[in-house]
Amino acid sequence: MKISVIGGGHVGATCAFLTAQKELGDVVLVDIVEGLPHGTALDMMQSSSVERFHKKVHGTNDFKDICDSDLIVVTAGLARKPGMTRLDLLAKNFAIIKSVTKNIAKFAPETKIIVVTNPLDVMVYVSLKESGFEKNRVFGMSGVLDSARFKHFIADELDVSIDDVSAMVIGSHSELMVPLPRFSSVSGIPLVELLPKEKIDRLIERTKKGGAEIVAHLKNGSAFYAPAASAVKMIEAVAKDKKKILPACVYLEGEYGLNDICLGVPVKIGKDGIEKVIELNLNSEEQSALNKSAESVREGIKNLKSQ
Ligand code: NAI
Ligand code: 2OP
Repeated sequence: MKISVIGGGHVGATCAFLTAQKELGDVVLVDIVEGLPHGTALDMMQSSSVERFHKKVHGTNDFKDICDSDLIVVTAGLARKPGMTRLDLLAKNFAIIKSVTKNIAKFAPETKIIVVTNPLDVMVYVSLKESGFEKNRVFGMSGVLDSARFKHFIADELDVSIDDVSAMVIGSHSELMVPLPRFSSVSGIPLVELLPKEKIDRLIERTKKGGAEIVAHLKNGSAFYAPAASAVKMIEAVAKDKKKILPACVYLEGEYGLNDICLGVPVKIGKDGIEKVIELNLNSEEQSALNKSAESVREGIKNLKSQ
């Protein structure tokens, strides 16, 4: 596999490092800042004798180097600062994603794209439309991260092994995300039988504000370890054709009653990217939360179109 990571900042560099350490493929790390990807890649390569990985990490400012990539992860763009919402990032990251996607379509027309840049759901839509790729080849990482946060809070609350916790968060990557306690469990025991509603509601609230909580601590940027690990879980699903069922942001054409929008839903991920969209039997409360989430993404797309 050849895996390119566009954007060599916090998320991109961590993602490149984990990808190399796990030997999922050779990595090309692209950034517009002169020297940054070169120095970062060299530093990673110098850890290879210690970490014992045998894949190459190549840093570059030249998009030509992404040619023949099997998979490209896009982390280029600005990150949130305290007080900023993901939508504040919209206009700036729109321009970046458009130009990055143009380069991807030019130099790696057969690749699959995993978008990470925020506001995630809108940026996936932009990348899909700009690339002209089939919908199975352009998708976004957010549900894996939001579910990982929910899982961590559940394991912490119950004082149980994280290995046993399974949880699902769908919808947009925003405070309107939709954590699904009915589809979450600990070793097969439904979460709703293990915790009272008020406790679950507290964990849901913390999950929804999971990104903002970290921004408030860091002050000068946003989370990157869990986001990068989450992107790498998706890379691994493609690289090893794992057929994993994960929440991902994908283009919907009628699923969940939604059309012409990119939103987080459970999917099967394998060598072809998004191999299937899984339609859960949502109750009316869950469906209406998903619809609200979709409305906010539509608003973001509309804002872009009016610019
Ligand atoms: P960062 O600021 O550390 O890194 C961004 C990098 O992108 C910088 O090195 C910058 O030079 C580079 N860049 C800007 N324009 C570029 C271009 N045209 N081509 C190549 N590189 C370019 O930011 P960080 O923390 O790595 O976050 C990156 C993005 O990921 C942000 O938009 C952030 O909000 C988003 N994010 C999304 C998450 C999700 O769950 N979807 C989770 C965490 C972050
Ligand atoms: C997060 O959820 C900022 O979207 C990023 O941490």
